[in-house]
Amino acid sequence: MSDTAKHIADLRKSYEKAELSEEASHADPLRQFDQWLTEAIAGAVPEPNAMTLATVASNLRPSTRVVLLKGYDARGIVWYTNYDSRKGRELAGNPYAALQFHWVELERVVRIEGRVERTTAEESDAYFASRPLDSRIGAWASPQSEVIPGRSVLVANAAKYSAQFLLQPPRPPHWGGYRLVPDEWQFWQGRKSRLHDRLRYRLDGGAWVRERLAP
Ligand SMILES: Cc1cc2nc3c(=O)[nH]c(=O)nc-3n(C[C@H](O)[C@H](O)[C@H](O)COP(=O)(O)O)c2cc1C
Repeated sequence: MSDTAKHIADLRKSYEKAELSEEASHADPLRQFDQWLTEAIAGAVPEPNAMTLATVASNLRPSTRVVLLKGYDARGIVWYTNYDSRKGRELAGNPYAALQFHWVELERVVRIEGRVERTTAEESDAYFASRPLDSRIGAWASPQSEVIPGRSVLVANAAKYSAQFLLQPPRPPHWGGYRLVPDEWQFWQGRKSRLHDRLRYRLDGGAWVRERLAP
């Protein structure tokens, strides 16, 4: 084994950059999220819109992957993907999912849970049309999550669909958006001595209840 394996347990960091209090946080978790995401972008966090998406299969096995946040408002949190992918199949069987942002440079984590629905075809069309051409072709070329015999399949598919669609590939029927409608949010701010700040917001009778969780 490498030295890395030997010393991994010694890697430690003290979190001291900021704090999160009941008084200074927003009563609406969406506003809190908007503020933290704005600060992550301003703070030059790499890929600030990258979020880990957890889904659970019908055999109760969880799985995670990274996707990109492409929209957020009072309706929920949006990303785009292949509906036939593993995550798509799992969401078809169980619409509950969890999202996590880890903004390392700000010592912050946001966790979001809720029920997932597909975006409308119009929304998916509009976002698809805004993507660069190679990404639009890529959506056709990649049977996401399927076993393929080699990389050459992707290259051949991309060439085939480029020739077929030229500059105007339509949105594939198996590709589109999902929206997670949050019923719980958590905001974590690292603090000294592992006494981190955690504020959870949960929906109670249509109103958000903000509570502090032990770290
Ligand atoms: C930074 C980053 C962003 C990604 N964004 C997306 C995305 O928006 N949509 C997507 O389908 N896959 C995205 N991926 C790839 C996924 O992590 C994953 O490999 C893919 O969606 C297949 O996952 P699945 O087999 O669990 O369905 C991204 C990967 C990384 C590292």
